[in-house]
Amino acid sequence: MEKTERTNAKAYHCIHLDSQRFLDQFTAIAGAVNGLRNKKFLDVGCGLGQKVYMARKFLEMSATGLELRPAYVKTGNQLLKRYLSYKNETEKEDSFFPRIVRGNAITYKKYQDYDVIYFYRPAPDPVIQEKIEHAIAKGAKAGAIIVGHLVQCFHNPEFLKQYNLTAHNADGKTERYWIKG
Ligand SMILES: C[S@@+](CC[C@H](N)C(=O)[O-])C[C@H]1O[C@@H](n2cnc3c(N)ncnc32)[C@H](O)[C@@H]1O
Repeated sequence: MEKTERTNAKAYHCIHLDSQRFLDQFTAIAGAVNGLRNKKFLDVGCGLGQKVYMARKFLEMSATGLELRPAYVKTGNQLLKRYLSYKNETEKEDSFFPRIVRGNAITYKKYQDYDVIYFYRPAPDPVIQEKIEHAIAKGAKAGAIIVGHLVQCFHNPEFLKQYNLTAHNADGKTERYWIKG
């Protein structure tokens, strides 16, 4: 492997949350919040968009992915078009179709547009991860459901207080999520 390839592989370090766990967790959350159908879902650091696909296909949410790496954005959007079909003409014409947008989770300005914000440790670097978690907690609208895995700040009661977040448990055991007040 060339040196540059090694560097890139380290920089983007895209590991996925287990798909069945994702579905089980979101099914439990849907039960707790009177359903998630048609909610606006964002995967922060979506890679190729597997969870964007699942959010739309199995949970019937309006799904978007945010991703830093241009190659993932391009290939991910191609895959979504290949494996999903338009629900109706409105979706086709008004671009409700699930998509991946390119952006940096630290500076992203549209968190308030989403009802459900999900992430699975976008950044291996703890300093960057912390900035991402602050950006999400700050940008989310009141009532937003935040589902994070391998979180850093969401464990911290002071952080939750700062952004008016309350912790909930989806399955009575390990699967936490937060709601912004
Ligand atoms: C762990 S992987 C994605 C996992 C996927 N969300 C899932 O649950 O299966 C993390 C992704 O976050 C992206 N990423 C890292 N830093 C980012 C940033 N600042 N803004 C947006 N995406 C970022 C990486 O390129 C990578 O594709």
